[in-house]
Amino acid sequence: MMDKYVIRGGNPLNGEIVISGAKNAAVAIVAATILCDEPCVLENVPEISDISICLKILREMGAKINVLSKNVISFDTTAIKHPTVPYELARSMRASSYFLGTLLGRFHEAYVPMPGGCDLGDRPIDQHLKAFRCLGAEDDMHAGTVHVKCDNLYGGNIYFDFITVGATINAIFAAVKAKGLTVIENAAKEPHIVDLANFLNSMGADIRGAGTDVIKVRGVDYLKGITYAIIPDQIEAGTYMVMAAATRGDVMIKNVIPKHLESISAKLRKIGAKVEEFDESVRVYVEPNTKFVKTSVRTMPHPGFPTDMQPQLSTLLTLAEGTSIVTDDIFENRFRYVAELRRMGADILVDGKVAIIQGVGHLAGAPVKATDLRAGAAMVIAGLAADGETIIDDIHHIERGYENIDAKVRALGGDMVRRYYPDSNVQAITG
Ligand code: EPZ
Repeated sequence: MMDKYVIRGGNPLNGEIVISGAKNAAVAIVAATILCDEPCVLENVPEISDISICLKILREMGAKINVLSKNVISFDTTAIKHPTVPYELARSMRASSYFLGTLLGRFHEAYVPMPGGCDLGDRPIDQHLKAFRCLGAEDDMHAGTVHVKCDNLYGGNIYFDFITVGATINAIFAAVKAKGLTVIENAAKEPHIVDLANFLNSMGADIRGAGTDVIKVRGVDYLKGITYAIIPDQIEAGTYMVMAAATRGDVMIKNVIPKHLESISAKLRKIGAKVEEFDESVRVYVEPNTKFVKTSVRTMPHPGFPTDMQPQLSTLLTLAEGTSIVTDDIFENRFRYVAELRRMGADILVDGKVAIIQGVGHLAGAPVKATDLRAGAAMVIAGLAADGETIIDDIHHIERGYENIDAKVRALGGDMVRRYYPDSNVQAITG
């Protein structure tokens, strides 16, 4: 990737912004179209590279996909004949694991490359496989590809050893057309699990309890075609909320579900920003002379504070007075951005799953890189709040999950452009 983001910090962000469809709901729902027995249409699909990869995977498998208008896409997966996901495409994305559940549900067999995605540490799929086994499937791994197979899927009881979003979704996929009742206990409660269940139920599935820790799925034979709008992105909204606070601006963030943002709003208020909630929008602003104050955060599964917002909030905490303690034990590698923030003057010490952030009041622009998707969002926030110029490398990570981030920031008065750097390839080879 030779493009980088170039940011001149210091402008408070002001104005209105419209949040896109939720990435983590969209990648699951797009994979779920494999279970649909008729063509269907999805609205509010975010234009991000993770979705482009999902569409390429489906097309290569034989699905007919048409972009009807911006963010509206039709899917006809009925022509897919083989339950095999193309290796190179799927390897780059965590959500490719969802094809295991959907192909197993439809073909009773799936070949899916071991999923990739953000390098947040070891990301095993043992709980996904456990769920499939509970419904009667067997699995093995050969040459980097996971193979699951069964003669028939039968409803069963699944108890997850710990809360996992991906395995909860895959369990739902396998159970939707299984014979009989599946009970999923210790299920994840994230908003996108509820959205996925709503999508499947609108097509005729029988899923109850999504959003609680016990989900019951009664298998059905047929799922009909529908048109469905994906929920707004909780994490994109949260990222712009922090951006508004960090630049001491005043932003109305529209097309959100304020309930999904409560844990983020609570932390922002504690730090000193003002958050006002409306029916489908939130306003975040900072009153003049406000001094940001330290706060401690521990990431938790929903409705706790999301791990996907940890790097962004930690960046804001570098601008606060005092010492904040941030604990993130959902993934092992979620503090890799700290080395980059230090280049900008942050004072952060990481010990395993804990970051000790000594507020420094302000940051200074520097060349940095996006070490993963949310780490990249944190660099954008840091760059906008910092004095001087910040150049962010490896922005493909950011573009996996944020639709038009540079244009959205510019519309709010931020100075951020995507610039082509012809020399960056040479650096990559020699550096
Ligand atoms: C989803 O990942 C999200 N991805 C992540 O968002 C998010 O950070 C994460 O949930 C937690 O909220 C998508 O929805 C596509 P998990 P997922 O299964 O499903 C361990 C972003 O930035 N685990 O809830 O992979 C796992 O290693 C991305 O948008 C097992 O050990 O997360 C982790 O420590 C990054 N075995 C923990 O559980 C398993 O079989 C939670 O993972 C499954 C998970």
